[in-house]
Amino acid sequence: MDQYVIKGGNPLHGEVEIGGAKNAALAILAAAVMADEAVTIENLPDVRDINVMLQAIENIGAAVERLDIHTVRINGAFIHGFTVDNEYIRKIRASYYLLGALLGKYKNAEVALPGGCAIGSRPIDLHLKGFRALGAQVDIQRGMVVMTAQTLSGTHIYLDKVSVGATINIMMAAAMAAGKTIIENAAKEPHVVDVANFLNCMGAKIRGAGTDVIRITGVESLHGAEYSIIPDQIEAGTFMFAAAATGGDVLVRNVIPKHLEATTAKLLEVGCRVEEFDDAVRVTVTRSLHHTQVTTLPYPGFPTDMQPQMGVVLGLSSGTSTITESIFENRFKYVDELAKMGANIKVEGNIAIIYGTERYYGARVSAPDLRAGAALVIAGLAADRITTVDDIYYVERGYEAFEEKLRGLGGEIRKVGSEKEIQKFKLKIVS
Ligand code: UD1
Repeated sequence: MDQYVIKGGNPLHGEVEIGGAKNAALAILAAAVMADEAVTIENLPDVRDINVMLQAIENIGAAVERLDIHTVRINGAFIHGFTVDNEYIRKIRASYYLLGALLGKYKNAEVALPGGCAIGSRPIDLHLKGFRALGAQVDIQRGMVVMTAQTLSGTHIYLDKVSVGATINIMMAAAMAAGKTIIENAAKEPHVVDVANFLNCMGAKIRGAGTDVIRITGVESLHGAEYSIIPDQIEAGTFMFAAAATGGDVLVRNVIPKHLEATTAKLLEVGCRVEEFDDAVRVTVTRSLHHTQVTTLPYPGFPTDMQPQMGVVLGLSSGTSTITESIFENRFKYVDELAKMGANIKVEGNIAIIYGTERYYGARVSAPDLRAGAALVIAGLAADRITTVDDIYYVERGYEAFEEKLRGLGGEIRKVGSEKEIQKFKLKIVS
Protein backbone atom coordinates (compact mmCIF):
# COMPACT_ATOMS: atom_id res chain seq x y z
CA MET A 1 0.00 0.00 0.00
CA ASP A 2 1.34 3.42 -0.94
CA GLN A 3 2.28 5.89 1.77
CA TYR A 4 3.65 9.40 1.93
CA VAL A 5 6.89 9.76 3.77
CA ILE A 6 7.68 13.30 4.82
CA LYS A 7 10.66 14.98 6.41
CA GLY A 8 9.17 18.04 8.04
CA GLY A 9 10.61 21.35 9.08
CA ASN A 10 11.05 23.23 5.79
CA PRO A 11 8.90 26.37 5.51
CA LEU A 12 7.15 26.12 2.12
CA HIS A 13 8.26 28.78 -0.37
CA GLY A 14 7.36 29.54 -3.96
CA GLU A 15 4.41 29.32 -6.31
CA VAL A 16 1.81 26.63 -6.82
CA GLU A 17 -0.80 26.30 -9.57
CA ILE A 18 -4.32 25.19 -8.60
CA GLY A 19 -6.35 22.81 -10.78
CA GLY A 20 -10.05 22.60 -11.60
CA ALA A 21 -12.57 22.08 -8.81
CA LYS A 22 -13.15 18.36 -8.24
CA ASN A 23 -16.63 18.77 -6.80
CA ALA A 24 -17.77 21.00 -9.67
CA ALA A 25 -16.19 18.66 -12.21
CA LEU A 26 -17.98 15.59 -10.88
CA ALA A 27 -21.39 17.23 -11.34
CA ILE A 28 -20.42 18.74 -14.70
CA LEU A 29 -19.35 15.34 -16.06
CA ALA A 30 -22.71 13.89 -15.06
CA ALA A 31 -24.58 16.87 -16.57
CA ALA A 32 -22.60 16.49 -19.81
CA VAL A 33 -24.49 13.30 -20.67
CA MET A 34 -27.71 15.34 -20.85
CA ALA A 35 -26.69 16.97 -24.15
CA ASP A 36 -27.44 15.41 -27.54
CA GLU A 37 -24.16 16.69 -28.92
CA ALA A 38 -20.49 16.66 -27.99
CA VAL A 39 -19.44 18.76 -25.01
CA THR A 40 -15.83 19.74 -24.35
CA ILE A 41 -14.79 20.27 -20.74
CA GLU A 42 -11.49 21.91 -19.85
CA ASN A 43 -9.57 22.36 -16.58
CA LEU A 44 -10.62 18.90 -15.42
CA PRO A 45 -8.59 17.75 -12.41
CA ASP A 46 -6.80 14.44 -13.02
CA VAL A 47 -7.81 12.70 -9.78
CA ARG A 48 -9.22 9.30 -8.96
CA ASP A 49 -12.88 10.29 -8.36
CA ILE A 50 -13.01 12.02 -11.76
CA ASN A 51 -11.66 8.96 -13.52
CA VAL A 52 -14.26 6.77 -11.79
CA MET A 53 -17.03 9.11 -12.96
CA LEU A 54 -15.69 9.13 -16.56
CA GLN A 55 -15.61 5.33 -16.54
CA ALA A 56 -19.20 5.22 -15.24
CA ILE A 57 -20.56 7.42 -18.02
CA GLU A 58 -18.57 5.50 -20.62
CA ASN A 59 -20.10 2.26 -19.32
CA ILE A 60 -23.63 3.50 -20.04
CA GLY A 61 -22.70 4.39 -23.61
CA ALA A 62 -21.42 7.97 -23.58
CA ALA A 63 -18.49 8.58 -25.93
CA VAL A 64 -15.61 9.80 -23.76
CA GLU A 65 -12.50 11.12 -25.45
CA ARG A 66 -9.62 12.42 -23.34
CA LEU A 67 -8.14 15.23 -25.47
CA ASP A 68 -5.36 15.77 -22.93
CA ILE A 69 -5.08 15.06 -19.22
CA HIS A 70 -7.19 18.11 -18.32
CA THR A 71 -9.61 18.14 -21.27
CA VAL A 72 -12.33 15.68 -22.14
CA ARG A 73 -14.93 15.51 -24.92
CA ILE A 74 -18.16 13.74 -24.00
CA ASN A 75 -21.02 12.84 -26.29
CA GLY A 76 -24.14 11.57 -24.52
CA ALA A 77 -26.07 10.95 -27.77
CA PHE A 78 -25.12 7.25 -27.64
CA ILE A 79 -26.32 6.45 -24.12
CA HIS A 80 -28.01 3.05 -24.10
CA GLY A 81 -28.41 2.21 -20.42
CA PHE A 82 -29.51 3.92 -17.24
CA THR A 83 -28.03 1.52 -14.70
CA VAL A 84 -24.85 2.64 -12.98
CA ASP A 85 -23.25 0.22 -10.57
CA ASN A 86 -19.73 -1.03 -10.01
CA GLU A 87 -17.43 -1.38 -7.03
CA TYR A 88 -15.75 1.96 -7.77
CA ILE A 89 -18.86 4.07 -8.30
CA ARG A 90 -20.19 2.73 -5.01
CA LYS A 91 -17.22 4.37 -3.30
CA ILE A 92 -17.74 7.91 -4.59
CA ARG A 93 -20.31 10.25 -3.20
CA ALA A 94 -20.89 12.17 -6.42
CA SER A 95 -22.30 9.12 -8.21
CA TYR A 96 -25.62 10.59 -7.05
CA TYR A 97 -25.30 13.27 -9.75
CA LEU A 98 -26.05 10.61 -12.35
CA LEU A 99 -29.50 10.32 -10.76
CA GLY A 100 -30.44 13.92 -11.56
CA ALA A 101 -28.78 13.87 -14.98
CA LEU A 102 -30.31 10.60 -16.21
CA LEU A 103 -33.71 11.30 -14.69
CA GLY A 104 -33.80 14.76 -16.29
CA LYS A 105 -32.82 13.53 -19.75
CA TYR A 106 -34.24 9.99 -19.93
CA LYS A 107 -36.85 9.97 -17.11
CA ASN A 108 -35.11 6.79 -15.97
CA ALA A 109 -32.19 6.19 -13.63
CA GLU A 110 -30.83 3.32 -11.58
CA VAL A 111 -27.74 4.25 -9.60
CA ALA A 112 -25.96 2.54 -6.69
CA LEU A 113 -26.45 4.36 -3.39
CA PRO A 114 -23.49 6.70 -2.95
CA GLY A 115 -20.44 6.09 -0.78
CA GLY A 116 -17.74 8.72 -0.31
CA CYS A 117 -15.69 9.67 2.72
CA ALA A 118 -17.02 8.35 6.03
CA ILE A 119 -17.48 11.78 7.60
CA GLY A 120 -21.04 11.26 8.77
CA SER A 121 -24.26 9.49 7.91
CA ARG A 122 -24.69 11.51 4.68
CA PRO A 123 -28.31 10.73 3.71
CA ILE A 124 -29.75 11.67 0.29
CA ASP A 125 -33.35 12.15 1.45
CA LEU A 126 -33.43 15.77 0.17
CA HIS A 127 -32.33 14.71 -3.31
CA LEU A 128 -35.09 12.09 -3.39
CA LYS A 129 -37.66 14.52 -2.02
CA GLY A 130 -36.84 16.85 -4.91
CA PHE A 131 -37.07 14.12 -7.55
CA ARG A 132 -40.42 12.96 -6.14
CA ALA A 133 -41.70 16.55 -6.18
CA LEU A 134 -40.79 16.74 -9.88
CA GLY A 135 -42.95 13.66 -10.49
CA ALA A 136 -40.52 10.72 -10.31
CA GLN A 137 -41.38 7.38 -8.79
CA VAL A 138 -38.45 6.64 -6.46
CA ASP A 139 -37.60 3.26 -4.91
CA ILE A 140 -34.60 1.86 -3.12
CA GLN A 141 -33.95 -1.72 -4.24
CA ARG A 142 -30.89 -3.88 -3.47
CA GLY A 143 -28.68 -0.89 -2.65
CA MET A 144 -29.77 0.97 -5.78
CA VAL A 145 -31.87 4.11 -6.21
CA VAL A 146 -34.38 3.27 -8.93
CA MET A 147 -36.35 6.13 -10.52
CA THR A 148 -38.80 6.43 -13.38
CA ALA A 149 -41.19 9.16 -14.53
CA GLN A 150 -43.72 9.51 -17.32
CA THR A 151 -42.99 13.21 -17.37
CA LEU A 152 -41.24 15.59 -15.00
CA SER A 153 -43.11 18.78 -14.15
CA GLY A 154 -41.68 21.95 -12.68
CA THR A 155 -42.60 22.62 -9.07
CA HIS A 156 -41.70 24.54 -5.91
CA ILE A 157 -39.14 22.77 -3.71
CA TYR A 158 -37.97 23.93 -0.29
CA LEU A 159 -34.81 22.24 0.98
CA ASP A 160 -35.05 21.68 4.74
CA LYS A 161 -31.25 21.79 4.99
CA VAL A 162 -28.75 23.60 2.81
CA SER A 163 -27.31 20.79 0.68
CA VAL A 164 -24.85 21.24 -2.17
CA GLY A 165 -25.58 17.81 -3.61
CA ALA A 166 -29.39 18.11 -3.44
CA THR A 167 -29.35 21.62 -4.94
CA ILE A 168 -27.25 20.57 -7.93
CA ASN A 169 -29.07 17.29 -8.44
CA ILE A 170 -32.55 18.82 -8.42
CA MET A 171 -31.32 21.66 -10.64
CA MET A 172 -30.09 19.14 -13.23
CA ALA A 173 -33.34 17.17 -13.31
CA ALA A 174 -35.46 20.34 -13.37
CA ALA A 175 -33.42 21.73 -16.28
CA MET A 176 -35.28 19.25 -18.50
CA ALA A 177 -38.63 19.14 -16.67
CA ALA A 178 -41.71 20.76 -18.19
CA GLY A 179 -42.37 24.26 -16.85
CA LYS A 180 -40.89 26.25 -13.97
CA THR A 181 -39.10 24.96 -10.86
CA ILE A 182 -38.13 27.06 -7.89
CA ILE A 183 -35.57 25.70 -5.40
CA GLU A 184 -35.66 27.55 -2.09
CA ASN A 185 -32.96 27.45 0.59
CA ALA A 186 -30.54 26.40 -2.15
CA ALA A 187 -26.80 26.00 -1.52
CA LYS A 188 -24.72 28.95 -2.75
CA GLU A 189 -21.34 27.25 -3.16
CA PRO A 190 -19.22 28.33 -6.17
CA HIS A 191 -19.63 24.90 -7.71
CA VAL A 192 -23.44 25.25 -7.67
CA VAL A 193 -22.94 28.36 -9.79
CA ASP A 194 -20.42 26.58 -12.01
CA VAL A 195 -22.80 23.70 -12.76
CA ALA A 196 -25.63 26.16 -13.48
CA ASN A 197 -23.35 28.11 -15.84
CA PHE A 198 -22.39 24.88 -17.60
CA LEU A 199 -26.04 23.80 -18.00
CA ASN A 200 -26.88 27.28 -19.32
CA CYS A 201 -24.05 26.98 -21.87
CA MET A 202 -25.80 23.83 -23.11
CA GLY A 203 -29.09 25.75 -23.46
CA ALA A 204 -30.68 25.36 -20.00
CA LYS A 205 -32.54 28.28 -18.44
CA ILE A 206 -31.35 28.62 -14.84
CA ARG A 207 -31.29 31.88 -12.92
CA GLY A 208 -30.35 32.75 -9.38
CA ALA A 209 -27.56 30.17 -8.82
CA GLY A 210 -25.34 31.59 -6.08
CA THR A 211 -28.36 32.95 -4.19
CA ASP A 212 -30.70 30.92 -2.00
CA VAL A 213 -33.50 30.88 -4.59
CA ILE A 214 -32.82 29.19 -7.94
CA ARG A 215 -35.39 29.51 -10.74
CA ILE A 216 -35.34 27.02 -13.58
CA THR A 217 -37.44 26.95 -16.75
CA GLY A 218 -37.25 23.47 -18.24
CA VAL A 219 -36.09 22.96 -21.83
CA GLU A 220 -36.67 20.00 -24.15
CA SER A 221 -33.10 19.41 -25.19
CA LEU A 222 -29.55 20.52 -24.45
CA HIS A 223 -26.86 21.12 -27.05
CA GLY A 224 -23.08 20.93 -27.31
CA ALA A 225 -20.82 23.39 -25.51
CA GLU A 226 -17.27 24.16 -24.49
CA TYR A 227 -16.69 24.87 -20.83
CA SER A 228 -13.80 25.43 -18.43
CA ILE A 229 -14.22 24.38 -14.79
CA ILE A 230 -13.55 26.90 -11.99
CA PRO A 231 -10.42 26.57 -9.82
CA ASP A 232 -10.63 24.29 -6.78
CA GLN A 233 -11.13 26.46 -3.70
CA ILE A 234 -10.39 23.54 -1.36
CA GLU A 235 -7.11 22.62 -3.06
CA ALA A 236 -6.18 26.32 -2.93
CA GLY A 237 -7.09 26.59 0.75
CA THR A 238 -5.10 23.45 1.53
CA PHE A 239 -1.92 25.06 0.13
CA MET A 240 -2.71 28.30 1.98
CA PHE A 241 -2.89 26.36 5.26
CA ALA A 242 0.27 24.42 4.33
CA ALA A 243 2.07 27.77 4.00
CA ALA A 244 0.69 28.86 7.38
CA ALA A 245 1.54 25.65 9.26
CA THR A 246 5.12 25.53 7.96
CA GLY A 247 5.77 29.25 8.52
CA GLY A 248 6.27 29.75 4.79
CA ASP A 249 5.59 32.18 1.97
CA VAL A 250 3.49 30.76 -0.89
CA LEU A 251 1.82 32.33 -3.91
CA VAL A 252 -1.25 30.23 -4.76
CA ARG A 253 -2.04 30.84 -8.44
CA ASN A 254 -5.07 30.29 -10.65
CA VAL A 255 -7.67 30.92 -7.95
CA ILE A 256 -10.73 33.13 -7.55
CA PRO A 257 -9.85 35.06 -4.36
CA LYS A 258 -13.54 35.78 -3.66
CA HIS A 259 -14.16 32.03 -3.22
CA LEU A 260 -11.42 31.94 -0.58
CA GLU A 261 -12.69 34.77 1.61
CA ALA A 262 -13.61 32.60 4.62
CA THR A 263 -10.22 30.86 4.53
CA THR A 264 -8.40 34.16 4.09
CA ALA A 265 -10.31 35.70 7.01
CA LYS A 266 -9.24 32.89 9.36
CA LEU A 267 -5.61 33.07 8.26
CA LEU A 268 -5.60 36.82 8.94
CA GLU A 269 -7.16 36.20 12.36
CA VAL A 270 -4.37 33.80 13.37
CA GLY A 271 -1.75 36.35 12.28
CA CYS A 272 -0.74 35.41 8.71
CA ARG A 273 -0.31 38.00 6.01
CA VAL A 274 -2.57 37.38 3.01
CA GLU A 275 -2.29 39.41 -0.18
CA GLU A 276 -4.95 39.09 -2.86
CA PHE A 277 -4.26 39.54 -6.57
CA ASP A 278 -6.61 39.14 -9.57
CA ASP A 279 -6.18 35.40 -9.78
CA ALA A 280 -3.76 34.56 -6.97
CA VAL A 281 -3.32 34.84 -3.21
CA ARG A 282 -0.05 34.96 -1.30
CA VAL A 283 0.19 33.69 2.27
CA THR A 284 3.19 34.75 4.33
CA VAL A 285 4.04 34.02 7.93
CA THR A 286 6.14 36.67 9.60
CA ARG A 287 5.34 36.08 13.27
CA SER A 288 4.03 33.34 15.52
CA LEU A 289 0.40 32.35 15.07
CA HIS A 290 -2.33 32.72 17.68
CA HIS A 291 -5.68 31.16 18.54
CA THR A 292 -9.12 31.79 17.06
CA GLN A 293 -12.65 30.35 16.82
CA VAL A 294 -14.02 28.64 13.73
CA THR A 295 -17.48 27.32 12.84
CA THR A 296 -18.06 25.43 9.62
CA LEU A 297 -21.07 26.63 7.64
CA PRO A 298 -22.46 26.46 4.11
CA TYR A 299 -20.88 28.97 1.67
CA PRO A 300 -20.01 31.79 2.18
CA GLY A 301 -19.22 30.41 5.65
CA PHE A 302 -16.04 28.54 6.52
CA PRO A 303 -16.04 25.28 4.48
CA THR A 304 -16.24 21.96 6.29
CA ASP A 305 -13.76 20.64 3.70
CA MET A 306 -11.13 23.03 5.12
CA GLN A 307 -11.80 22.16 8.75
CA PRO A 308 -9.08 19.50 9.30
CA GLN A 309 -6.43 21.67 7.61
CA MET A 310 -7.47 24.59 9.86
CA GLY A 311 -7.27 22.25 12.86
CA VAL A 312 -3.65 21.44 12.03
CA VAL A 313 -2.78 25.16 11.90
CA LEU A 314 -4.62 25.93 15.15
CA GLY A 315 -2.80 23.04 16.84
CA LEU A 316 0.40 25.05 16.25
CA SER A 317 -1.07 28.43 17.28
CA SER A 318 -0.60 29.80 20.79
CA GLY A 319 -3.56 29.77 23.18
CA THR A 320 -6.82 27.86 23.08
CA SER A 321 -8.87 27.68 19.88
CA THR A 322 -12.19 26.02 19.12
CA ILE A 323 -13.63 24.50 15.98
CA THR A 324 -17.37 23.86 15.78
CA GLU A 325 -18.29 21.41 13.02
CA SER A 326 -21.87 22.12 12.04
CA ILE A 327 -22.16 20.19 8.75
CA PHE A 328 -20.97 16.61 9.32
CA GLU A 329 -21.00 14.74 12.62
CA ASN A 330 -17.90 12.61 12.11
CA ARG A 331 -15.28 14.99 10.93
CA PHE A 332 -12.79 14.99 13.81
CA LYS A 333 -11.27 11.60 13.08
CA TYR A 334 -7.95 13.24 12.27
CA VAL A 335 -7.65 14.42 15.88
CA ASP A 336 -6.51 11.00 17.19
CA GLU A 337 -3.89 10.81 14.45
CA LEU A 338 -2.70 14.36 15.12
CA ALA A 339 -2.41 13.49 18.82
CA LYS A 340 0.24 10.91 17.84
CA MET A 341 2.24 13.89 16.52
CA GLY A 342 1.92 15.82 19.79
CA ALA A 343 -1.27 17.83 19.22
CA ASN A 344 -3.35 18.61 22.29
CA ILE A 345 -6.99 18.55 21.19
CA LYS A 346 -10.12 17.54 23.09
CA VAL A 347 -13.32 16.75 21.18
CA GLU A 348 -16.68 17.26 22.87
CA GLY A 349 -19.58 16.48 20.56
CA ASN A 350 -19.20 18.68 17.50
CA ILE A 351 -16.63 20.99 19.11
CA ALA A 352 -12.86 20.53 19.14
CA ILE A 353 -10.97 22.43 21.81
CA ILE A 354 -7.43 22.93 20.64
CA TYR A 355 -4.63 23.81 23.04
CA GLY A 356 -1.84 25.15 20.86
CA THR A 357 1.53 23.45 21.03
CA GLU A 358 4.90 24.70 19.78
CA ARG A 359 5.63 21.85 17.38
CA TYR A 360 4.48 18.51 16.04
CA TYR A 361 6.74 15.46 16.07
CA GLY A 362 6.97 13.00 13.20
CA ALA A 363 4.90 9.83 13.66
CA ARG A 364 3.21 7.09 11.67
CA VAL A 365 -0.35 8.21 11.01
CA SER A 366 -3.12 7.16 8.71
CA ALA A 367 -5.52 9.23 6.57
CA PRO A 368 -9.10 8.71 7.81
CA ASP A 369 -10.63 10.52 4.81
CA LEU A 370 -9.71 12.84 1.93
CA ARG A 371 -9.38 16.25 3.61
CA ALA A 372 -8.14 14.81 6.91
CA GLY A 373 -5.44 13.00 4.92
CA ALA A 374 -4.33 16.29 3.34
CA ALA A 375 -4.32 17.88 6.80
CA LEU A 376 -2.02 15.16 8.17
CA VAL A 377 0.37 15.73 5.27
CA ILE A 378 0.48 19.42 6.23
CA ALA A 379 1.17 18.42 9.84
CA GLY A 380 3.99 16.17 8.61
CA LEU A 381 5.53 19.03 6.62
CA ALA A 382 5.48 21.20 9.73
CA ALA A 383 6.71 18.48 12.12
CA ASP A 384 10.17 17.67 13.41
CA ARG A 385 11.65 14.52 11.87
CA ILE A 386 9.92 11.91 9.71
CA THR A 387 6.17 11.32 9.32
CA THR A 388 4.57 8.55 7.31
CA VAL A 389 0.96 8.85 6.22
CA ASP A 390 -0.87 5.59 5.40
CA ASP A 391 -4.06 5.15 3.37
CA ILE A 392 -3.15 7.92 0.93
CA TYR A 393 -5.68 6.42 -1.45
CA TYR A 394 -8.10 8.92 0.09
CA VAL A 395 -5.87 11.90 -0.64
CA GLU A 396 -5.40 10.82 -4.25
CA ARG A 397 -9.16 10.88 -4.73
CA GLY A 398 -9.12 14.67 -4.61
CA TYR A 399 -5.61 16.13 -5.01
CA GLU A 400 -3.76 16.02 -8.31
CA ALA A 401 0.03 15.65 -8.09
CA PHE A 402 -0.13 16.59 -4.42
CA GLU A 403 3.38 15.52 -3.49
CA GLU A 404 4.91 16.97 -6.69
CA LYS A 405 3.29 20.36 -5.99
CA LEU A 406 4.51 20.28 -2.37
CA ARG A 407 8.01 19.32 -3.50
CA GLY A 408 7.91 22.30 -5.87
CA LEU A 409 7.48 24.44 -2.74
CA GLY A 410 10.45 22.82 -1.01
CA GLY A 411 8.53 20.18 0.95
CA GLU A 412 10.43 16.93 1.41
CA ILE A 413 7.76 14.37 0.61
CA ARG A 414 7.79 11.12 -1.37
CA LYS A 415 5.16 8.58 -2.27
CA VAL A 416 6.56 5.16 -1.40
CA GLY A 417 5.26 1.63 -1.84
CA SER A 418 7.49 -0.38 0.50
CA GLU A 419 9.57 -0.27 3.68
CA LYS A 420 12.68 -0.40 1.45
CA GLU A 421 11.65 2.82 -0.28
CA ILE A 422 11.05 4.52 3.08
CA GLN A 423 14.58 3.57 4.16
CA LYS A 424 15.95 4.88 0.84
CA PHE A 425 14.14 8.20 1.41
CA LYS A 426 15.53 8.46 4.94
CA LEU A 427 19.08 7.76 3.74
CA LYS A 428 18.73 10.40 1.01
CA ILE A 429 17.49 12.96 3.54
CA VAL A 430 20.36 12.29 5.94
CA SER A 431 23.07 12.39 3.23
C1 UD1 B 1 -20.61 18.05 -0.83
C2 UD1 B 1 -19.15 17.82 -1.14
C3 UD1 B 1 -18.36 17.66 0.15
C4 UD1 B 1 -18.61 18.83 1.08
C5 UD1 B 1 -20.10 19.08 1.28
C6 UD1 B 1 -20.40 20.33 2.08
C7 UD1 B 1 -19.20 16.66 -3.27
C8 UD1 B 1 -19.03 15.39 -4.01
N1 UD1 B 1 -19.03 16.61 -1.95
O1 UD1 B 1 -21.06 16.87 -0.17
O2 UD1 B 1 -16.98 17.58 -0.19
O3 UD1 B 1 -18.03 18.53 2.34
O4 UD1 B 1 -20.75 19.20 0.01
O5 UD1 B 1 -19.82 21.44 1.48
O6 UD1 B 1 -19.45 17.70 -3.85
N2 UD1 B 1 -27.99 16.24 4.02
C9 UD1 B 1 -29.17 15.63 4.39
N3 UD1 B 1 -29.94 15.09 3.40
C10 UD1 B 1 -29.59 15.12 2.09
C11 UD1 B 1 -28.40 15.75 1.72
C12 UD1 B 1 -27.61 16.30 2.71
O7 UD1 B 1 -29.52 15.58 5.56
O8 UD1 B 1 -30.34 14.61 1.25
C13 UD1 B 1 -27.14 16.83 5.06
C14 UD1 B 1 -25.77 16.18 5.16
O9 UD1 B 1 -25.79 15.04 5.98
C15 UD1 B 1 -24.93 17.31 5.73
C16 UD1 B 1 -25.56 18.56 5.10
O10 UD1 B 1 -26.87 18.17 4.68
O11 UD1 B 1 -25.13 17.39 7.12
C17 UD1 B 1 -24.80 19.11 3.93
O12 UD1 B 1 -24.53 18.07 3.00
P1 UD1 B 1 -24.33 18.35 1.45
O13 UD1 B 1 -24.11 19.81 1.22
O14 UD1 B 1 -25.41 17.67 0.71
O15 UD1 B 1 -22.97 17.60 1.17
P2 UD1 B 1 -22.61 16.60 0.02
O16 UD1 B 1 -23.30 16.99 -1.26
O17 UD1 B 1 -22.70 15.20 0.51
